[in-house]
Amino acid sequence: MKTAPRLNFAHLPTQVEEQPRLSKALDGPRIFVKRDDQTGLAFGGNKARKLEFLVAEAREEGADLLISGGAIQSNHCRQTAAAAAKYGFDCTLVLTGEKPKQPSANFLLDQMFGAGIVIVKDRVNRDQILQDTYDKAIVAGKKPYLVPYGGSSATGALGYAYAVEEFMKQNVPADWIVFGTSSGGTHAGLVLGQRVFGFQGKALGISIDEPEEKLKSHVSELASRASEKLGERINFTRDDVLANDKYCQAGYGVFGEGEREAIELFARNEGLLLDPVYTGRAAAGMIDLIRKGFFRKDETVLFWHTGGQPALFADKYSQQLIGTRK
Ligand SMILES: Cc1ncc(COP(=O)(O)O)c(C=O)c1O
Repeated sequence: MKTAPRLNFAHLPTQVEEQPRLSKALDGPRIFVKRDDQTGLAFGGNKARKLEFLVAEAREEGADLLISGGAIQSNHCRQTAAAAAKYGFDCTLVLTGEKPKQPSANFLLDQMFGAGIVIVKDRVNRDQILQDTYDKAIVAGKKPYLVPYGGSSATGALGYAYAVEEFMKQNVPADWIVFGTSSGGTHAGLVLGQRVFGFQGKALGISIDEPEEKLKSHVSELASRASEKLGERINFTRDDVLANDKYCQAGYGVFGEGEREAIELFARNEGLLLDPVYTGRAAAGMIDLIRKGFFRKDETVLFWHTGGQPALFADKYSQQLIGTRK
């Protein structure tokens, strides 16, 4: 099998931990968590695995500037800024949303890593402004490398294809892998890794903000393109991609009762922190599916923790996280 250039900075393999008190509280199946919130780069998260390949590619291309974009509280941008600092790149981030009055959480950390920030109020303009930022950098004599939203290119997805190989060596008898999916790189990598390394269970992405049909076509196409980087194209179809968009109706980053309860259940039963945007929502989906009997009680469910906890410290969420609970 061919492979792509890779840097090795993530703390791998990440641990897999059983969550017996959570299983009991839900009267559900065995639950394990794979701790990709502990990948090591700037508080960890799923982007570390993607950036091992993306930053290696940027280096091979002789780039000196990483440009990327995301929401104001993007975890992807925080880890990209950290990787840029670590490997001596400049970094510019195009962030969408209202500029916070006080920098906090990921938005604060981006600036600590020295990233230049361009704020875009309206999402409609963000692609254009990202492109303008890239073009201006070239005019200024820089050699920019565009890290796609969420690091979700064919190159970035390879991080999660190899993550399946890592997971299989950990011998966890998982019937299901459940995780949050948004820009699709994690999902595409898992689908590719499942095929290439022969994982027999199912991988179910809980959508954070995209309709199921859109995810299925995007993820299958991305997994197919990523497979080419391993030497031989595999043509994945929509049927190869399992996704559920029932838990994202409120919209991206809108914190609801499902997220609040999921975060509380993990925190109070296992001392484990989820984040308000991604893993909180994905876990809310998993919990609801357990309650509805979607996962049989004799099955084993692996919740793949993709990180994001710095967002717990964003002003926006603090009151909602504790709510009126004691
Ligand atoms: C914490 C966290 N989990 C999950 C995701 C979704 O991963 P992907 O964009 O690869 O679909 C993200 C993306 O930004 C994230 O920050």
